Amino acid sequence: MKNVDIRVTVNGQLFEKTVPVNKTLLRFLREDLFLNSVKEGCNEGECGACTVLVDGCPVNSCLVLAAEMDGKTVLTTEGLADDARLHPLQEAFLEAGAVQCGYCTPGMLMSGIALLNLYSHPTREQIRKEMEGNLCRCTGYDRIADAVLLAVQKMDAAREEAAAGHLSEPSFAGIDPDFNEKWNAAYIERQ
Ligand code: FES
Ligand code: FES
Repeated sequence: MKNVDIRVTVNGQLFEKTVPVNKTLLRFLREDLFLNSVKEGCNEGECGACTVLVDGCPVNSCLVLAAEMDGKTVLTTEGLADDARLHPLQEAFLEAGAVQCGYCTPGMLMSGIALLNLYSHPTREQIRKEMEGNLCRCTGYDRIADAVLLAVQKMDAAREEAAAGHLSEPSFAGIDPDFNEKWNAAYIERQ
């Protein structure tokens, strides 16, 4: 099998690796980088359990090749928390009871981050629509939507607290305030 060299940044760390051309991103993340939050479910793009962010966009990692990741930036659930605390979305999933067996949770979290870049204050309907590619057998989805809404409250509260203390705006992994602007600029450039 032919191999290819890639340079990819995963969770903020640059990796230089040689991968078989047919190795999926899912297998690369799990087998080469030991990022086991990335779950294998259907392996055919139907369940969302393997969702990661590639350059900020949600991707089913079972459907893309590691070889395609050269020069790209990948974020997985392992990259969400900082040393001190969980990401507000992770905290919210726990507090809202949106985690039961947990198998879907990493993919849900990554789709949730992508959703919050599209809509900083999403409606329940927008949450349902943007996360419909992620299947959960346990929670019935309402608690997942509750968790996303709670995460919004948490991030707003952190921003307000920082503003009141004249501190710089807090940053949250994966949340890019300029995402829409960048995405639109990239889209217009391709036209
Ligand atoms: S394992 Fe990738 S979408 Fe199901
Ligand atoms: S918590 Fe079990 S599949 Fe979602």
